[in-house]
Amino acid sequence: MSRIRPPHRRARRAALAAGVLAGALAVGAGPLGPASAADAPGTLARVDNPYEGAQVYVNPDWSARAAAEPGGAAVADEPTAVWLDRIAAIEGTGEAMGLREHLDTALEQAGGEPLVFQVVVYDLPGRDCAALASNGELGPDEIDRYRDEFIDPIASILRDYEQYENLRVATIVEIDSLPNLVTNVSGDTATANCQEMLANGNYVTGVSYALAQLGAIGNVYNYVDAGHFGWLGWDSNFGPSADLFHQTATSNGASVDDVAGFIVNTANYGPTVEPYYSIDDTVNGTPVRQSEWVDWNQYNDNQSFAQGFREELVRQGFDPGIGMLIDTSRNGWGGPDRPTGPGPMTDVNAYVEASRTDGRIHTGNWCNQSGAGLGERPTAAPAPGIDAYAWIKPPGESDGASEEIPNDEGKGFDEMCDPAYQGNPRNGNNPSGALPDAPLSGDWFSAQFQELLANAYPPVS
Ligand code: BGC
Repeated sequence: MSRIRPPHRRARRAALAAGVLAGALAVGAGPLGPASAADAPGTLARVDNPYEGAQVYVNPDWSARAAAEPGGAAVADEPTAVWLDRIAAIEGTGEAMGLREHLDTALEQAGGEPLVFQVVVYDLPGRDCAALASNGELGPDEIDRYRDEFIDPIASILRDYEQYENLRVATIVEIDSLPNLVTNVSGDTATANCQEMLANGNYVTGVSYALAQLGAIGNVYNYVDAGHFGWLGWDSNFGPSADLFHQTATSNGASVDDVAGFIVNTANYGPTVEPYYSIDDTVNGTPVRQSEWVDWNQYNDNQSFAQGFREELVRQGFDPGIGMLIDTSRNGWGGPDRPTGPGPMTDVNAYVEASRTDGRIHTGNWCNQSGAGLGERPTAAPAPGIDAYAWIKPPGESDGASEEIPNDEGKGFDEMCDPAYQGNPRNGNNPSGALPDAPLSGDWFSAQFQELLANAYPPVS
């Protein structure tokens, strides 16, 4: 297991000072080494785990915001993902750098060594059909705009950087989309939006198109979103999700070769590992799976889920070499309320309640969770089958507004972000556990950043 090294400070400072580097580095030899005949587009051999032996890109936009927070300098050099969450983000929005500028800065940060550039591709038609806070700019039927104005321009820019053999572009493809087609289309968890996206097929069409276009670029590693343990860990969701992912990755011109792996826990809060109880434990003969918290799930943390799901995906036809990522940006659950050992063996609920480090009210809670902390720092190859722990959701960026805020990004108001909300069937009708006074999703939420820092686990020194 190797801790992901921050990029060379010198190269980074130079890149920041130089500002826009486009043009100077767009073609020919660059800091990642000369382009040669062997590096011709389409001929690059992908490595098994792109994170192994590589630095990871530090997003200067996030880094500056983190550094401006009291105490934030301690983590401001950590790599976080770049989010392309709307068409305008590709060129840059004034507040945020565009894709080309990020890639040029990435070449500078690389300082001649391998570097992973993490980018979230997130603008499907009818986006996030069960979480209104992350609805997007494209209507449910706007698949043509998704192809022509979003994926094609991204692919065209990335192709300009294909020649840099040591630049490894990890794309996080369309979080929360396919899992919603499994769990939120029937029964009491159904939403009309998810039923519409299942019926019109545009999630599957969009994701498969993205995989095919981006997967055709030699230095791109596609990681498809695979929810999290508290979503797909139940038998009823597990197999059907893997099946849908395989169908998607083999339709519309895509193939399993376009998939480097999957990511779990993106922008979520579930622990990587529950250290003080195992899903196989029993208390007085009663399996912990029967506890109210676990509620028959097969998994109680994201790492065991990711490893189990990886095997299922391979069984369904994905390449045995696929690797998993875990978003550990906000799943640390440190601070004074963190358990320090297993709970009492009096009954199964008492045991699980006192053992679990997951501090949420329910595993279906996802918005600005109160009490959360920064999780494991980005790390390459931390465990078998896991390519990396990565910070994909930039800590300090809100999951959604706690009350309705008018905006032009298509973002709705989701009651799961209101601390007073008492829940729905998707979170077992529990309180939302959300922090108050939160801004729009993606906007800087200083109070949350401060809490994440204070409750970090491992602690931030
Ligand atoms: C928002 C995006 C934002 C991302 C990262 C998502 O929930 O919808 O606009 O870029 O979070 O903070």
